[in-house]
Amino acid sequence: MKTIELINAAIAAPSSHNTQPWQFRLADKAIELWADRTRALPVNDPYDRELTISCGAALLNLRVASAARGMAVATRLEHDHPDHLANVCLDEGEVEAALAGLETAISERFSTREAFLDHELPDTLPAELDAAIGREGARLHQVGDEDRSVLAELVAEGDRIQFSNASWRRELASWMHPGRDRDGLAMSPWVAPISRLVVRNFDMGNKVGQADEDLALNAPALVVISTADESQSSWLAAGQALERALLLAASAGVHAGYLNQPCQVEQLRGQLADRVCPGQFPQVMLRLGFAEAPAHRAPRREVKDVLLTYQDLLTQM
Ligand SMILES: Cc1cc2nc3c(=O)[nH]c(=O)nc-3n(C[C@H](O)[C@H](O)[C@H](O)COP(=O)(O)O)c2cc1C
Repeated sequence: MKTIELINAAIAAPSSHNTQPWQFRLADKAIELWADRTRALPVNDPYDRELTISCGAALLNLRVASAARGMAVATRLEHDHPDHLANVCLDEGEVEAALAGLETAISERFSTREAFLDHELPDTLPAELDAAIGREGARLHQVGDEDRSVLAELVAEGDRIQFSNASWRRELASWMHPGRDRDGLAMSPWVAPISRLVVRNFDMGNKVGQADEDLALNAPALVVISTADESQSSWLAAGQALERALLLAASAGVHAGYLNQPCQVEQLRGQLADRVCPGQFPQVMLRLGFAEAPAHRAPRREVKDVLLTYQDLLTQM
């Protein structure tokens, strides 16, 4: 069934802490996208901003998979329930031909926390990313050499602030699971309990901050995605822009690592905006480059785990 294939593509999207905060309902002529706020990160993401960006990334994958199957779809934002984010309406609108070629990149894309290989980005990629992100209603800012060390220091400062907060550490630790759990920051069953214990109990902000600062300083490119305002629809746009850019990059063999700390820590976000996107709201900061694929891909729940039934909806109303 084509709709199941589309949802299978959607759930391959990236999400903060791999929370996979989405649900889907098959309606008569639409696939409904719902936020699953039971998977929220109230300390890291108190307004569900990143949760909504993650759902936006899943929405883009639905559109890509539809286009790759020659299906005409129209995307509509929904407002009848706070968790009902959007519908992908089938047999309406147009085939989004520009997205069709991105489908193979859905399974090729991965996030990395490792240093990049020492290769330059393809010359044409920055302009292509800029155009793709613009088409989704967000903006891309390439961080110039003159700003890089300031931003790298903001990332390190963000790590220090986050790790100094015991609630933030506890929340992070609660998403560090053995791989069999199908969500969260997967790790081997042997390592998980110790890593969780360390993260929960020790402030490693200085060490993590130094490592992230080095990653920011040495990446082939550092970019920020911003929106003109701060609203659910802007966050959905940012998520679609993010995933469109990530798929375009992955098609060229380029992958991303996230350096979102200055977007997540409220007192640093204004400084980031002043430096790279005055008057805009920075949503995501990425480093881009060529990377070794991880030995194990981040796990995903199955389609059956993210399908909403009418019964589920009634209990949410
Ligand atoms: C909105 C958003 C925020 C994220 N923030 C971070 C982050 O701060 N640090 C990080 O290492 N990864 C971050 N990630 C990447 C996720 O951890 C990653 O997508 C998830 O673990 C699934 O792995 P995959 O992207 O390789 O499929 C973020 C992803 C999204 C969509």
